[in-house]
Formats: sequence, C-alpha cells, structure tokens
Amino acid sequence: MVDTSDEWITARTGIKERHIAGPGESSSTSAFRAAEDALAMAGCRAQDLDRIIVATITPDMLTPSTGCVLQEMLGASNAACFDISAGCTGFLYALSVGDSLIRSGACEKILVVGVETLSAITDYQDRTTCVLFGDGAGSVVLERSDGERGILSTHLYSDGSCGKLLYVPGGGSAMPASHASVDARAHYLKMDGNKVFKIAVKSLEDAALKALEHNGVTGDDIDLLVPHQANDRIIQAIAKRLNLPPEKVFVNIHKYGNTSSASVPIALDEANRQNRIKDNDLILLDAFGAGFTWGSALIRW
Ligand code: UT7
Repeated sequence: MVDTSDEWITARTGIKERHIAGPGESSSTSAFRAAEDALAMAGCRAQDLDRIIVATITPDMLTPSTGCVLQEMLGASNAACFDISAGCTGFLYALSVGDSLIRSGACEKILVVGVETLSAITDYQDRTTCVLFGDGAGSVVLERSDGERGILSTHLYSDGSCGKLLYVPGGGSAMPASHASVDARAHYLKMDGNKVFKIAVKSLEDAALKALEHNGVTGDDIDLLVPHQANDRIIQAIAKRLNLPPEKVFVNIHKYGNTSSASVPIALDEANRQNRIKDNDLILLDAFGAGFTWGSALIRW
C-alpha cells in the first residue's frame, strides 16, 4: 500500500503483527468480548456492575457512548455508563476515575474497558502512521478491597498545547463531515511522530518516577512494568531510566502494534494469563498519548 519495509517497521518500532477489525466488528463488539472475559475471571455478574467506563478515541458513533452500547450487549442494567477520551492514556484515566468512585463510596463494582478500532481512523496512504496502529480491547473489573492490595496511586497529566502533534482534525463540531473534509482526508489520525516520540519518553519517565516517589519505592521494588505499547524503543528507554531488567518489563507490541487505549489492559491481561504476575507483586502502569495526556498507576496485585 505504501513505500515501507518490514525491516524499517521492525527496527524503528518493534511491531511485527497487528489485528484489524473485520466486517461487522467495531469498538463495542471488541469491548464486549474483553468485558465478558474480565467478568468471568472476576466472577462478577453484569447486573452487579454500578458503572461501565469505556476509554476510547474510536467510539462506535459520536453518541450514544460506547459504554451505553456495551451496557445493552452485556445486559448490565444497573450500571451508569460513559466514555472517556484521553488518547492512549485513556485506560489509566478510566482506571483513576473508577478507583476514585470506589474510594468515595459511590460504587462497589466497576467495569473499565480500553478499546480501539484504530483501523477506522488510519490513513492507509500515510506511511508515517499506517504501519503503527492496530485494533483491540482489554478490560478489568474493579471492586472494593480491604488491606494492602489494590490500586495504590494514580497520577494523571495533560498538556493541551501539544494537541495538534497527534490528532484527527475532522468529524467533530470544529470540522463536521463534508465532501471537502473527506477529500482532504481530515477524518484520519495525523501524527508528528518524531516530536511525539521525544516528549513521550520524557513524560513516561516523569509519570513513572512520580508513582515511585509518591509510594516511597524505587525501581528495584517493581515486579513488572506494563507500559503503553507505542514503540519498543520508548519502552526500552523507560526501562533503562528505571533500571529494570528485561524480565521486569512486559512487551507485546510485536503482536498488536499501537492499540491506544487498549494497549495497557491488553498487556496487563496477557501478563496475568502468562503468570508473569503473582499475588502481592508491585505492578507499574505507564501511558502517554494524544492531548497530550500521560500518567501512571501503581498496583499491589
Ligand atoms: O501512542 C502514543 C503516541 N505515539 C507515540 O508515542 C509514537 C511516537 N513516535 C514514534 O514511535 C516514532 O517517531 C515513529 C515510529 C512514528 C517514527 O520513527 P522515527 O525514528 O521518529 O522516524 P522519523 O519520523 O524521524 O522518520 C525517519 C525516516 C524519514 O525519512 P528521511 O526524512 O530520513 O528520509 C521518514 O520519511 O523514516 C521515514 N519513514 C519511513 N520509512 C519507511 C517514516 N515512516 C516510514 C515507513 N517506512 N513506514
């Protein structure tokens, strides 16, 4: 489709494979499958959920929210549902909101989903982006727990001044869909990759260090870093900064590419199912994305 090579993609990003939604699939159908798996693993019925929070930049449609579409599919009739748009940091934003709702006493059980159908907004004529993005979904169930285990902290950050380094100009109220906007390919994701790369490394390091400092721990105490999977070179830079050996860093970008809001929960689920996480392990989540947004979460598993 474009002038590129497996060698360039592998060397610059670490990506080998990606998954693309098929006909009839969308963010809600992917979210549904991830949600069913998470509910089964948690032993939780859909009717027991108080909230469904879906992190996505590729909702099924502008309104209603994908959270509400998912509610109907799951039969989660007692949940209030909404979406969060925070670029590739979306899952951490949703996790932080869910954590706060439980801590405040407002909720008991919350489904948090990170899902993207990035193929719907990828310009397959633009080699600077089309080799990077994939589709997917991951999900967790949050519930109240006593004692030492659980989400120890979340730290979230934004810098709206960098918005146009990574954005979709068309399709919203500033530029509604028109023949001209479609002809201008304005409904596709645009990214100044090199500038994003440099700021991403620094921001991810800062957020990770903030989580460590806030909890009075060091890189040595971390059992597993589960970072946003945008570029293997970014992940390795953070691992180096935190002084983490390869076995303490979870990487699956080679299998999925960059799945934005879905990348952290997909990685977390895969790490868990591969028995890379044990009870009481200290897990550090770290993400960066459009907005700009970035953040971290420290979890005692
Ligand atoms: O998900 C959250 C936010 N996203 C990120 O964190 C992504 C951050 N950015 C990146 O991961 C990297 O910047 C990219 C993988 C997107 C690009 O890697 P890079 O090392 O920053 O490359 P570059 O943009 O500086 O481009 C280097 C060269 C250019 O050619 P010249 O000017 O040196 O002749 C590009 O035109 O590579 C060229 N190029 C390609 N060549 C082959 C760009 N895309 C491709 C391609 N195939 N697909």
